[in-house]
Amino acid sequence: MKVGVLEAECKKLNEFYFKYIQTGMPFVTIKFAQSLDGRIASTTGHSQWISCDASLKLAHRLRGIHDGLMVGIGTVLRDDPRLTVRLAKGVDPCRIIVDSNLKIPLDAKVLTEGDPQRTIIATTEKIDKSKASMVEDLGAQVIEVDENQKGQVDLRMLLQRLGEMKIFSVLVEGGAELLTSFLRANLVDKFVIAIAPKIIGKGIEAVGNLGIKDVSKAIRFSEVKTRKVGTDLIFEGWLSK
Ligand SMILES: NC(=O)c1ccc[n+]([C@@H]2O[C@H](COP(=O)([O-])OP(=O)(O)OC[C@H]3O[C@@H](n4cnc5c(N)ncnc54)[C@H](OP(=O)(O)O)[C@@H]3O)[C@@H](O)[C@H]2O)c1
Repeated sequence: MKVGVLEAECKKLNEFYFKYIQTGMPFVTIKFAQSLDGRIASTTGHSQWISCDASLKLAHRLRGIHDGLMVGIGTVLRDDPRLTVRLAKGVDPCRIIVDSNLKIPLDAKVLTEGDPQRTIIATTEKIDKSKASMVEDLGAQVIEVDENQKGQVDLRMLLQRLGEMKIFSVLVEGGAELLTSFLRANLVDKFVIAIAPKIIGKGIEAVGNLGIKDVSKAIRFSEVKTRKVGTDLIFEGWLSK
């Protein structure tokens, strides 16, 4: 009997499950749309829509195959997204907002539209408990996680908590500050980037300071794939571990 036939391909088909079983933490995919010059928004924070219609559909298909969909509170305050699957078939993932100070407005769409019971606000112990009760009254779940050195949500702890909640996969859609923290903490498994043939110039960079001074220390990928979807180029890359 032959063993190990197409082993790598089989592992990839079940990559969410294998990561979860081996670490107890969800598989983390970072997804964003950027201009050719690496911006995810203009100087005013405007970002809708950098990508073309076809890659927006792809983004919704990706949402539909993940258990969790995460954004930072900056994105909620700027864009008030619904974070649901609308442009493709698929089940709405659990929405996870990373919000250390519980700044989320009570009329945010993630608390009032879709199924608020499938919204988790990940925060820290320092928050105003009465605001937490108001958020919970809307149906959402508030989970308190340890702070990191910057007083923000400790992302490793958060992934461990999400793992305990049987969330096998998380799609992190931004924004820049959250993506950068995930990279700095070495918690990313895969990148999906929609690169639009547009130039924005000064704006919000997709990835901020990683403290890399020597190019030889740049984050690398063990495997990459590219394809064209509509007018965008889709980059998929699995990080070297
Ligand atoms: N093109 C795209 O694909 C795309 C996608 C999403 C967003 N965007 C754009 O990105 C912009 C928002 O990005 P942003 O960088 O300002 O905000 P963000 O990354 O969405 O949120 C950042 C905030 O999350 C909170 N946070 C809590 N724990 C954190 C941690 N460990 N690491 C990092 N952040 C943590 C922090 O606020 P507290 O300390 O108060 O908790 C932080 O200020 C908007 O203009 C939006 O349109 C673009």
